[in-house]
Amino acid sequence: MTSSPPAVLELSGITKHFGDITANRAIDWSLNAGRIYALLGENGAGKSTLMSILAGRYQPDAGTIRRQGRTVRFQSPAQALAAGIGMVYQRFMLVAPLSVAENIRLHGAAGRSRSDRQGASIRELAVRYGLAVDPDALVQDLSMGERQRVEILKLLNRRADILIFDEPTAVLTHTEIAGLFEVFQRLRDEGKTIVFITHKLEEVMAVADEIAVMRRGRMVARLAAADVRSQHDLARLMVGREIILNVDKPPAAPGETVLAVSGLSGPAGSSRPGFEEIAFEVRRGEILAIIGVAGNGQEDLAAGLAGLTPLKTGRLTFKGRRWRAPQWGRKPHEGIAYIPADRDRTASVGAIDLVENFMLTQLAVFSRALRLDRRRAAAATAAAVERFAIRGGGLKAPAGNLSGGNLQKLVLARELARHPDLLLAEQPTQGLDVRATEAVWQALLHQRAASAVLLITGDLKEALSLADRIAVIFRGRILDTIAARDSAAIDRIKLLMAGLETG
Ligand SMILES: Nc1ncnc2c1ncn2[C@@H]1O[C@H](COP(=O)(O)OP(=O)(O)OP(=O)(O)O)[C@@H](O)[C@H]1O
Ligand SMILES: [Mg+2]
Repeated sequence: MTSSPPAVLELSGITKHFGDITANRAIDWSLNAGRIYALLGENGAGKSTLMSILAGRYQPDAGTIRRQGRTVRFQSPAQALAAGIGMVYQRFMLVAPLSVAENIRLHGAAGRSRSDRQGASIRELAVRYGLAVDPDALVQDLSMGERQRVEILKLLNRRADILIFDEPTAVLTHTEIAGLFEVFQRLRDEGKTIVFITHKLEEVMAVADEIAVMRRGRMVARLAAADVRSQHDLARLMVGREIILNVDKPPAAPGETVLAVSGLSGPAGSSRPGFEEIAFEVRRGEILAIIGVAGNGQEDLAAGLAGLTPLKTGRLTFKGRRWRAPQWGRKPHEGIAYIPADRDRTASVGAIDLVENFMLTQLAVFSRALRLDRRRAAAATAAAVERFAIRGGGLKAPAGNLSGGNLQKLVLARELARHPDLLLAEQPTQGLDVRATEAVWQALLHQRAASAVLLITGDLKEALSLADRIAVIFRGRILDTIAARDSAAIDRIKLLMAGLETG
């Protein structure tokens, strides 16, 4: 007889309400040592809430948590961590001007200052789990992947054996994702328990041992990864229908050039390398993708084009009017809608409600005789909520209560509603579930008929599905621009993105 190993963590009947919303409803789940769990579910399904309960950030309204058979109650993340449960949040909690070792030490129990021994043990942990990072490096000099390793070291240094990750791959490059999965496997082989939230079904297939699926606050499926045959099965479990993520792209009918830039460099007044000698044009009726691995200058380029940071040199022609780069950001440009990658920081305000957020960039549209017409804005917001299935609390709820993906959909809906000449969409589906991704892709293709679309993405599948032309950016320069119809170009795009081929 084989008996299954005792659970390291057992949840029963976990329920959590936020006002009228039941974010978690009677959830039972048990976790074992030496397993990697993928937690899936649509935006707003309750994944982050459940993990925050495990990590002591929220307390459940009902239900119990048992740790190695004993009932526990965490009043704070510190208490959860003392019980061996640690969480790596999406937004890293590191002090940028301090070193890796100092960050890890800060996270340790207060009052202990064994700096030398600590330094040595950090190295030891790093080697043992394959977490390549220099303890003496300053966090501000590290890539996102390296910062994430510091977060993991922080937890390991506190002897956590259940490690929880909220969408850990969203900020990583392809190579860094592969590296993270190797770390997951090392941790698992040492008997640790990994739980990670993701929307990328191929990641689930690549690394998970066990899969749990949430829908509308409930745990609707728990299964062994070995029993899942395809991503299609998973998608069906998540949303109740098949999603193939193949959008129909009618041939482009490019019209007049909306934006043309040449010799563009920036950002001005910054020591960051930024971008250089950027040239492209994008016409009404087409989608131009600029694809690159995160950190290759595209974030600065997007902010510069959106007028948020000053450009250094170059020329732009927008709707027939010519601009010198330094003048471009002086005032907002009528006809540009911008969906930034960092939606909760730059695109929305958490403390005000959905309707007010919807009005943020459209004050002129919704004002009448110097007064804001809230009724009309509410109707427009309600239509957007309906179209993109934005869930969470209703129109009067503060935007800060929305789940990550739902906030993203709200910003996107608002920007599309502005009827722009140029839509600047930066990582528009990052953090979105498969159903929402499909809806956004369709919305962008639909938008193509009306405006020029500049899509800035790190997701090759997204670029290939949507774009008419793909420009690859590497170390701040566009290496080449390739017609997306050319399927033989896929390998070349990958090589260019990795800097292994020149333009
Ligand atoms: N602090 C809060 N106050 C009020 N409502 C909240 C709060 N946190 C979450 N919610 C609501 O609880 C529900 C579950 O949200 P949660 O963040 O757990 O979803 P999620 O599955 O992580 O979604 P996503 O994939 O979009 O990140 C949502 O309806 C959300 O609006
Ligand atoms: Mg979440």
